[in-house]
Order: sequence, then C-alpha cells, then structure tokens
Amino acid sequence: MRFIGGKSNLLPDIQNVIASSTVNVRTVIDIFSGSGVVSSYLKQNNYNVIGNDIMYFSYVLSRGNTALNHFPAFGNLDIENPIEYLNNLTIENTDIVLADCYIYQHYSPHDDCNRMYFQNENAVKIDIIRITIEEWKKNNLINEDEYYYLLAALIAAVPYVSNIAGVYGAYLKHWDARTNNRLLLRAPELINNGGTAVFYNQNCDALLPVIAGDLLYADPPYNARQYLPNYHVLETIARYDNPVIHGVTGMREYGQQKSDFCTVRDVESAFRRMIEAANVRYVLISYNNEGLLPTERLSAICQEYAVNHSFRLHEMDYRRYNNATTTQRDVMEQLYFFEK
Ligand SMILES: C[S@@+](CC[C@H](N)C(=O)[O-])C[C@H]1O[C@@H](n2cnc3c(N)ncnc32)[C@H](O)[C@@H]1O
Repeated sequence: MRFIGGKSNLLPDIQNVIASSTVNVRTVIDIFSGSGVVSSYLKQNNYNVIGNDIMYFSYVLSRGNTALNHFPAFGNLDIENPIEYLNNLTIENTDIVLADCYIYQHYSPHDDCNRMYFQNENAVKIDIIRITIEEWKKNNLINEDEYYYLLAALIAAVPYVSNIAGVYGAYLKHWDARTNNRLLLRAPELINNGGTAVFYNQNCDALLPVIAGDLLYADPPYNARQYLPNYHVLETIARYDNPVIHGVTGMREYGQQKSDFCTVRDVESAFRRMIEAANVRYVLISYNNEGLLPTERLSAICQEYAVNHSFRLHEMDYRRYNNATTTQRDVMEQLYFFEK
C-alpha cells in the first residue's frame, strides 16, 4: 500500500545497519509499523518481529498478513475459496439492505451525500463484504486468524478503487479512472521461513514498557501531519463502528490517536519517553533532516542514551528514494543508530 513515510525503498539500508552494527539480534520491535513493509521484510529475513501501530487498519493489515505463517484452513466455513466468494457477493444474495451500508451512505454520492470517495457499486461492495466478514466471526464460522486474513485483503483492496490522490484527507472532484475498477480482494501472500511476528494496536507509550526485544526500530511521524485524518476512511472500514463524522470529508473523531511526534511542543519528550521505555539493547530510528526535531537535537538525545561511543548517523539522499528528481532541496533520509 502507498503510505506516507513508507520505507519500502529503504529496506536494504535498514537491514545493512542492523547486520553491520549489532550482534545477536533476533527480535526487532517495529513500534510504528504503518503499512507493515518493514515488519514483513524483517520477518522474511528471519527476524522475530513485534509490530505495533496506533491506527487499527494498520494493525489489521499486518495481523492478517505478516503475523500468519500458513494460509488459514477456514474449516468451519464450508466455502472452498472465501476470497472468491466475497468477490462474487452481491447485495441481492444477502439480507443486507442499503440502510445498513455505512460506507455507501457516507462516502459515495447519492440523495443528500455529496462525498465522492467511491463509486456507488464499490461502496456497497465494501459494505457487504465487511458486514459478511463480521457475521462469520460473530457466528464462530471463522477464527481470529481467518477474520484478520479476510479483513486485511479487504483493506488492501480499497485504495485501488478510491477516488483520492494518495490519501483520504480529501476526495477528487472528478472520478479518477481507477474508481471504475471493480473492487477485487486478493489473497494476502504469507511468509513462512522461520521468523515469527506478533502485532499490537496501542500507543507506543503504553506498549513499550511491557514488551522486550533486541532492537527497537522506530519510524515515527516526522512532521505536523497527523496520520489518522489521512487514512480515516480505511480506519472506519476496518473498525466498522458507525462513527459520528463531520465536515466535507466525513472525518471521524481521532483524539485518542493523535501523536505527540507531530507537535513541536511534545516531540522531544516523546522521543525521550520512547527511548527510556524500550527494553532493548539497540535502537534504530528513521527520521528526516526536515523533521520537527532538528538533526542536532535528535543526535544529542541519542548520544545521551548511547553507550561505548556507539552512536552513528547514516544519511541517504531523499531523491534516491522518492524519484523527486526535480526538487532542489537537500532532503535526507536518516537512520540514527546506537547501543542503549
Ligand atoms: C512514518 S509512519 C511508519 C511507516 C512504516 N515504517 C512503513 O514503512 O510503512 C509512522 C506511523 O506511526 C504511527 N504512530 C504515530 N504515533 C504513534 C504512537 N504514539 N504510537 C504508535 N503508533 C504511532 C502512525 O499511525 C504511522 O503509521
């Protein structure tokens, strides 16, 4: 999934720093897992991963994919291929009525709804698939692994039919060609090569004191842009909790999911709390030289907590990672490493 600040282009650099600077690292904590690409890559490379994110849809993506080693059996369901079954579902084949369809009612245009996030047909499909998955779970026809596997397939499919320029902070005023595609779930590809992965959906402040690993990989937000408003529609599909929404974009409340890393006032103490709470030997932080916390400040904090002169700052040209060939600015991706 395209994800703000996603590290898919930085994976080999992360792996290189871990491999060249540490000994005996087996368990990595990916405390801000986002799209899940880093967790997935680390598991592929035989690490044990503890992943976490404050957004529920992010948890769903990793819980239903990277956390699983085997294709779930769906033994109680009596449907040979549940993904194909869901892809072929129509509202007429169910006892669902349009009034039950939250995404259709609030995010596709009709009667008194102007929002253009989805074409009507895809909005209804999202709803009937989401409602069906929930009913299967409620009736004990699927277990937790099976539930998240199907939910992850749904969340991963939605951006391909969304009328947005990358994020859900706004919808486009004209239908993008991609919205004419039919919503199509694909079976998540699973990794089974020795590594394990478990995931959480908590604020890092609450989780870090109660888990332990060998290395903390921390990729926090680096600017004032909170994540939830940019992904609110995916969060609502994942939770399907009929939220009260407001404004042109139909935004849900997200007070509990605001990040201290996104305010100048709180960012330094957020970094300090995180480093202090981490029960690990090594710390590796992804950041950016245009982040809210200046490079000198973050370097100084890392040095305060580093033993044996172990602090290293690796900087990589941003353009190499983002195809931003026209930018004149000197933006660097950064990896801060130290032994705690
Ligand atoms: C830069 S993104 C991580 C991107 C990820 N490494 C990837 O490659 O997809 C930062 C993530 O931190 C999460 N986040 C922000 N504040 C958090 C907090 N206090 N606790 C847990 N997660 C948080 C956001 O929801 C977002 O997904």
